Amino acid sequence: MKISDQIYWTGYIDWNLTVFHGYQTPLGSSYNAYLIVDENPVLIDSVKDYGFAEMLTRIKAVIAPEKIRYLIANHAEGDHSGSLTELVKICPNAQVVCSPKAVDIFKKIYRADWRFKVVENGETLNIGRRDLKFIHMPMVHWPESMATYSVTDKILFSNDAFGQHYASSERAADDVPLDIVWQEAAKYYANIVLPYGAQVLKVLEAVQTLPVEMICPSHGLIWRRKADIEKIIGLYQKWANHITDPKALIVYDTMWHATEKMALRFFELFEQNGIDAKILNLANKHISDIMTDILAARVVLFGTPILNNRMLPTMASMLMYIKGLKAKNRYAVTFGSYGWATVGFKELEESVKDAGFTLLSDGHYVKFTPDETEMNKCLAYIPAMLEKLRS
Ligand code: FEO
Repeated sequence: MKISDQIYWTGYIDWNLTVFHGYQTPLGSSYNAYLIVDENPVLIDSVKDYGFAEMLTRIKAVIAPEKIRYLIANHAEGDHSGSLTELVKICPNAQVVCSPKAVDIFKKIYRADWRFKVVENGETLNIGRRDLKFIHMPMVHWPESMATYSVTDKILFSNDAFGQHYASSERAADDVPLDIVWQEAAKYYANIVLPYGAQVLKVLEAVQTLPVEMICPSHGLIWRRKADIEKIIGLYQKWANHITDPKALIVYDTMWHATEKMALRFFELFEQNGIDAKILNLANKHISDIMTDILAARVVLFGTPILNNRMLPTMASMLMYIKGLKAKNRYAVTFGSYGWATVGFKELEESVKDAGFTLLSDGHYVKFTPDETEMNKCLAYIPAMLEKLRS
């Protein structure tokens, strides 16, 4: 598939992918490889090991693989490097171009003794008509990650940055329903990129000095319209700075519906105050979907009953996941129902703080089922939340 003059998409569409290291991907994904047919042909990134044959068919439809001179490996993770072991065999004239840290990782993952060409941040490589510039982007998403920029085409091959897990026979974001692509881009950021805000801001700083007419990520769809490029860069800036929307999110699980009753009461109070609020039940929503809503939410309410003196395992898992993703600048309130022991709520509060939230008050905890007075007590928690939501 030609995406620009002499540039072809030669990747693999993973229609059947449903889970990507714990992240649910109901729309599948793609691993995007890009072939540039210049005097010294280049393949930018490769695909998972099981996508090799499909990628090879696409490459052979354009040129003989032995003509490829450079295999640019922007990232060593298996979804973009899993086919390199086979590629170096069928591209005997090619060097593997990567960052210094990638060499160590390739040697550890694949025991690779490939012909490496190590490139520094900002270094350029002439391939004939084109100059390619390498932009190191450590921790977006691994320490060795980098992007490749075609100075001539003004195309940024951004690897994991700006991607989405979305399988499609179309290649450009503006060829498919865009609202789904924005949603998937947010989910991708929330579940993969969120911990690396500071590093993302450095990448954005570098990218903003370059004219960019197309962004070609290594997952999902290409951004090629000026308005979409500006929007995705603006969103990355917002997300990297942990800027939230005036939204409230109620995340809960329940055993005998007491905690659920409280969740519904909180929702009702938000509704009465004109606040954009949402309820998500951990029993039927996956943590990777909940993360997408946490990305936008300024105030999150965490509700759980007590089981065996502890919060429910679904809540513990959610909070551990958020902690790893290092959410910041968000506020929280805790609530729940208990029978005889409240020690689990202390643990809940500590876990919420550990996950990066500022608690707005002590939690609202009730013995067994809340009565009318206890339900009305939910109201006392609203002013502090409104202050944050309206600021
Ligand atoms: Fe798409 Fe970090 O791999």
